[in-house]
Amino acid sequence: MQEKLAALHNLQSQALLGGGKKRLESQHAKGKLTARERVDLLLDKNSFQEIGMLVRHRSSDFGLDQEKYYGDGVITGFGTINGRKVYVFSQDFTVFGGSLSEAHAKKICRIMDLAMQNGAPVIGLNDSGGARIQEGVLSLGGYADIFYRNTLASGVVPQLSLIMGPCAGGAVYSPAITDFIFMVSHTSYMFVTGPNVVKTVTHEEVSSEDLGGALAHASKSGVTHFACDNEVHCIMQAKQLLSYIPQNCEELPPATAYETADELRPKLNDIIPETASQPYDMREVIEHLVDENSFLETHQNYAENIVVGFARIGGKSVGIVGNQPNHLAGVLDINASKKGARFVRFCDAFNIPLLVLVDVPGFLPGTDQEWHGIISEGAKLLYAFCEATVPKVTVITRKAYGGAYDVMNSKHIGADMNYAWPSAEIAVMGAKGAAEIIFKKEIAQAANPEEKLTEKVAEYTEKFANPYLAAEYGFVDEIIEPSKTRQKLMESFAMLENKALKLPRKKHGNIPL
Ligand code: HXC
Repeated sequence: MQEKLAALHNLQSQALLGGGKKRLESQHAKGKLTARERVDLLLDKNSFQEIGMLVRHRSSDFGLDQEKYYGDGVITGFGTINGRKVYVFSQDFTVFGGSLSEAHAKKICRIMDLAMQNGAPVIGLNDSGGARIQEGVLSLGGYADIFYRNTLASGVVPQLSLIMGPCAGGAVYSPAITDFIFMVSHTSYMFVTGPNVVKTVTHEEVSSEDLGGALAHASKSGVTHFACDNEVHCIMQAKQLLSYIPQNCEELPPATAYETADELRPKLNDIIPETASQPYDMREVIEHLVDENSFLETHQNYAENIVVGFARIGGKSVGIVGNQPNHLAGVLDINASKKGARFVRFCDAFNIPLLVLVDVPGFLPGTDQEWHGIISEGAKLLYAFCEATVPKVTVITRKAYGGAYDVMNSKHIGADMNYAWPSAEIAVMGAKGAAEIIFKKEIAQAANPEEKLTEKVAEYTEKFANPYLAAEYGFVDEIIEPSKTRQKLMESFAMLENKALKLPRKKHGNIPL
């Protein structure tokens, strides 16, 4: 037995070395952690159980039979994060550049199957040169097997992708289907075609970082939800995100212990500026509403006119969607609609109640928006709110104009509780624009048109730029003092905690994609 044990230990230590000491050192020299170091950082101490450590590829083309490594470029298994089970794969760049072979893909698929059958999140740590070039179509098939499982798992278990190195070509479509993408600045990049192909086809000169680095995808494309400073930061962010979400679609999100305290937030009474055109920071409102330091913003640098993220109120998870008056006056445009819609759908898929904070002047006008499809893109957010069956609570802090009033979780599309602050203005449009249209003739014929306009604006403001008419119709349930909002939210979400609402039976809806 001793001999056999020694043989086993020998194989295990070979596997632990991945592509060998030199390549491990080169990984560190690039400022990157190794695949195993990442798993260790991610999981609770000693919780990792590896599956398939001794898997090797079976290919022989291009001399591959002479080059085999235990694990075949990906470390797979399960473990816990803060005591909660997760399934993990971590690509090992030191073995054929982390490229995906048939055997490598099978290991990932096995983890995904186990995660789906056992109802726990899948976390993929990506660091790969793409398809194992020597294996040809076997490798392509392996990718498709993963994409298929990503799609089946979508909405069943949370899927997180942490991009820790290259992720190029068709390989990007696995992270793209997952729920959240995290990238590391300067050491990770994602693109369908790299700078060389771009140069050949479009004659554009661009670096990998500018084309598909963390900052580009966090701010320009919105592909990544997080741009992290380094790998440790990236892994910590992913762990924090998991703390708000349940293990699978059948469970409720975890709650933390909370003792009721003084829930009044007097500073909220002073947040709305004197004039309606002045900006303020919706994040500040959020900070006063949620448990201290509990807000985790996602997609922070993309479509900044809408803020989305997770937080806790009284220890319980909520997903927050808020217009951001500090950026483009909080207008809804194509990117904000897409960002909001995807977030709402994630929360709904995983039983996370929604809090919607409204201060929106409408949809962004212009040829650019129209020609890029604000009609169907904006409809995504509308559709997402309409179909969400989780508890939905809205607070209108200031403007709720036009179609955007309807879209932002209005009572009409299924919100459970709608509050408004006394500063709310619920109308078809801003008072000046409205007065100019409906009193056009009267203003033109007046001896002093300027004076007439001011008079008519005041008239319109008096009648519509407030929340009272909406409250009369029951579209707003209560007009509340801002300082009492947190208290109201705690009561509402507690009142709604057993909400059970079923949509009409269907195969699936047809969201305007
Ligand atoms: C096999 C690969 C590989 C690959 C890298 N290696 N990519 N082996 N298949 N796709 C190997 C290298 O031969 C090298 O082996 C080791 O990994 C490290 O690679 P280096 O080039 O030395 O590293 P670096 O300079 O950091 O460059 C990393 C890289 C580059 C930018 C990722 O390796 C690269 O461009 N690779 C090819 C990328 C690619 O075109 N992939 C296919 C994309 S198409 P040694 O033995 O020297 O350590 C695709 C289709 C997916 O993925 C379709 C899904 C539908």
